[in-house]
Amino acid sequence: MMSDASLEQSLKLLREEAGMVCHSASSHVIIVFGASGDLAKKKIYPTLWWLFRDKLLPSNTHFVGYSRSNLTVDNLRSNAMPYLNAKDSEWTQLDEFFKRNSYVQGSYDKPEDFIRLNKFIVDNFSACSNRLFYLATPPSQFISVATNLKAHCTAESDGLWNRLIVEKPFGKDLDSSEVLAKHLSSLFSEDQIYRIDHYLGKEMVQNVVVLRFANRVFSPLWNRDNIANVVVTFKENFGTEGRGGYFDEFGIIRDVMQNHLLQILCLIAMERPISMEANDIRDEKVKVLRCMRPLSLDDVVVGQYVADPENGKPGYLDDPTVPAGSITPTYAVAALYGVPFIVRAGKALNEKKCEVRIQFKDVIADILPSGAVHRNELVLRVQPNEAVYMKLMTKRPGMGFGAEETELDLTYNRRFTDLKLPDAYERLLLDVLVGSQINFVRTDELREAWRVFTPALHALESQRVAPHPYPYGVRNGPPQSDEFMRRLGFTFS
Ligand code: NDP
Ligand code: BG6
Repeated sequence: MMSDASLEQSLKLLREEAGMVCHSASSHVIIVFGASGDLAKKKIYPTLWWLFRDKLLPSNTHFVGYSRSNLTVDNLRSNAMPYLNAKDSEWTQLDEFFKRNSYVQGSYDKPEDFIRLNKFIVDNFSACSNRLFYLATPPSQFISVATNLKAHCTAESDGLWNRLIVEKPFGKDLDSSEVLAKHLSSLFSEDQIYRIDHYLGKEMVQNVVVLRFANRVFSPLWNRDNIANVVVTFKENFGTEGRGGYFDEFGIIRDVMQNHLLQILCLIAMERPISMEANDIRDEKVKVLRCMRPLSLDDVVVGQYVADPENGKPGYLDDPTVPAGSITPTYAVAALYGVPFIVRAGKALNEKKCEVRIQFKDVIADILPSGAVHRNELVLRVQPNEAVYMKLMTKRPGMGFGAEETELDLTYNRRFTDLKLPDAYERLLLDVLVGSQINFVRTDELREAWRVFTPALHALESQRVAPHPYPYGVRNGPPQSDEFMRRLGFTFS
């Protein structure tokens, strides 16, 4: 983990690198499609502001918001304001940031609107600009936006680049993802396409490779002889709350599991890459996915939250943006390949948390009383409050000789005081500016991920499998989830 000083140093290096790769352009333009939307206000504009504030962007960078709504830059600013975390002392800089912003209203499918957008860029920032297009619209718009961008908005001079950030979900199943992938690759080369999975930008996810491959102590243990199971958990303590229009079409498996959790799992399960180069790491992740057999209904348990009269929280079906009678899962647990690997994700649970829990096999405890010894666990807490801790058995301190479970605890905010971790999107946007694909998803990874999940998703939908109900705010989703995990050999402590 970096100290604050070394973080600053790396950010400085990234900044210098950004300057180096962009030397042939007179400016950079970042164009945000879907600028009126939720992701734009909560993540994209705040991230652009933080990068601007910390002087991490190439000096002549401009930002253009684009969407169908009739908006001004002031509207963009007030939408994003609650998420910008701007201090009073930063207001002058914030004004400067918004002076670099502009807004173009237009459709996602009419060529004339994209011709107008291109003219706006050329007239205001020169034709000699590198262009970064951020597709933050619903996925239904990706194909028409990409087609029109290619036809009318790309920078064409030698030495200039065009890069495209595409948000998840990349399709709804294997076939639709292939259609999207083929379409994008007919327009842009793989090195221009950045499929963003923001979990890959989180500190603890980035830490997996270092923890695994820079510590001799783990190498001999990191295999099925020693590991009983690996559980990757994602929990949120809120429901869909108005996002039902999007969520109901996709469900928790497509929203979180097939992408964020599977990416974490690949990093945990992969063999040592030849190098830290983007393609070497992604090659190893693909190998993990190729080993996984497709999921069937028997490998999955799904749930949906219902109202809890005790805490007054509404059920999924009470959300006015959710269609009546929906059977979309808001909770799922699935068992994948080998060890086993268990992934579980749920909305409307008791807390917001994401962690990886590696449970080691039982010791042969013939010298200690039966039941006295618990399994060792290595836990990587991705959020909140990043930590790595190991659950160990030690002698209970004092005169007696009993065994007791304790922890070797590396909680980041205790170990690293004044820690300032960059947001995942900050890291990933800088990666795109410097042209690094290391934290982005390659087409073959995506294909394999869909190959694994598509049969179970189709079976759930075609057989209209009813999700098990669980009350809003419970710890672990429906009780069937815990039973399923016990059957796979997970021991609840
Ligand atoms: P929104 O629903 O807020 O959509 C973004 C914008 O797209 C809207 O403001 C609207 O702009 C336009 N839009 C919405 N619905 C349609 C439609 N049916 N047809 C055409 N345009 C439409 O989505 P989000 O911002 O939440 O998500 C954008 C992308 O980012 C999605 O791919 C999502 O999966 C992904 N994402 C979102 C996250 C989040 O926290 N919100 C997190 C991670 C990924 P206008 O009408 O003005 O054109
Ligand atoms: C997004 C999902 O990809 O990730 C959301 O679409 C989810 O449903 C979000 O809430 C969680 O991200 P984070 O960074 O807040 O854990």
